[in-house]
Amino acid sequence: MSALKNDLLLRTLRGEKIERTPVWMMRQAGRYLPEYRVLREKYGFFERCQTPELACEITIQPVDIIGVDAAILFSDILVVPQAMGLEVQLIESRGPVLPDPIKTHRDMQRVRVPDVHETLGYVFDAIKLIKQELNGRVPLIGFAGAPWTILCYMVQGKGSKTFDEAKAFCYTQPFLAHQLLQMITDTTIAYLKQQIKAGADTVQLFDSWGGLLSKDDFENISLKYIKQIVAAVKDDAPVIIFAKGAWYSLKEMADTGAAGLGIDWCITPQMARQFAGNHVALQGNFDPAKLLSPIPEIKKEVKQMLAAFGNKNHIANLGHGILPNVPVDHAKAFVDTVKEFQHS
Ligand code: CP3
Repeated sequence: MSALKNDLLLRTLRGEKIERTPVWMMRQAGRYLPEYRVLREKYGFFERCQTPELACEITIQPVDIIGVDAAILFSDILVVPQAMGLEVQLIESRGPVLPDPIKTHRDMQRVRVPDVHETLGYVFDAIKLIKQELNGRVPLIGFAGAPWTILCYMVQGKGSKTFDEAKAFCYTQPFLAHQLLQMITDTTIAYLKQQIKAGADTVQLFDSWGGLLSKDDFENISLKYIKQIVAAVKDDAPVIIFAKGAWYSLKEMADTGAAGLGIDWCITPQMARQFAGNHVALQGNFDPAKLLSPIPEIKKEVKQMLAAFGNKNHIANLGHGILPNVPVDHAKAFVDTVKEFQHS
């Protein structure tokens, strides 16, 4: 494996001072790219995930087209519930659907902690192929969903603004909920360790629905398991935690030993730094909808964001995934502005 030619992201995660801020975008491999939409017409979603050549091509598209400083594996957080025995469908215009969600003790009998080689081997094959094709151009980010966010889908059975059924499951059947969270945690640890073994240079935990919980509940239902994952994985590769909306626990997240913390646009860089302390990289936090603004406005706002974070311990990113209706030249303006910026 060749050495990395661009290791800005990894050096930032190690806390080193670098020449310029690294930049990538959550959900950068996706529908805003015409080149992705061509493959989307031809192949089903999980077919794209399960075919290493397709996953590889989609992963590298934003590196070639947008010029980001890192690639993120093309896959989905919902391949984990699939590997644990649940059926997952991705339905056009409806998003993910799990037709037989977990509601009772009986349903739990269908859930297992799988052998990740048997069930998710295609992901490790994709990673090996991507590393070969990237040929050291940029680092590769592996990922998984945080256990609470995975539980949300396993119990609610579909997307939701509130995930009230998932919450009710935790509040009314806490024993079952913690049993399920622990099974997801054990699977995720094995899964991320193998992603790193296959070549992922760093891994991100997506806790997209962390911020739906109160601080106490976040720490008991989500962070408790994130902590186990970080402890098990961090000596293999740096870990980034992105718990959207859970700004109130940034300090506790920093205490896990994570190398980076993702933040959304609802907290200022200054406040996030105050909460998180000085020994962790912060990642974010451009409002994805602002990429729909005129390009000069995007450039102005990106510069403001970079100045607010300062020239150390920052990875430029969006505060959540890129929206499918963002014009490609707007995404490119975001990335180019970061790459051209000189800290005074
Ligand atoms: O970042 C990347 O580009 C890598 C690929 C990636 C996908 N999903 C591909 C995808 C990553 C990192 C994810 C993570 C993911 N998946 C999350 C966490 C991040 C977040 O956005 O909060 C969540 C909650 C999911 C679950 C999921 N998958 C949903 C809710 C949906 C439907 C809504 C949507 O955004 O499209 C998906 C489908 C999905 N995953 C698509 C892609 C490119 C779109 C599918 C398509 O092409 O039709």
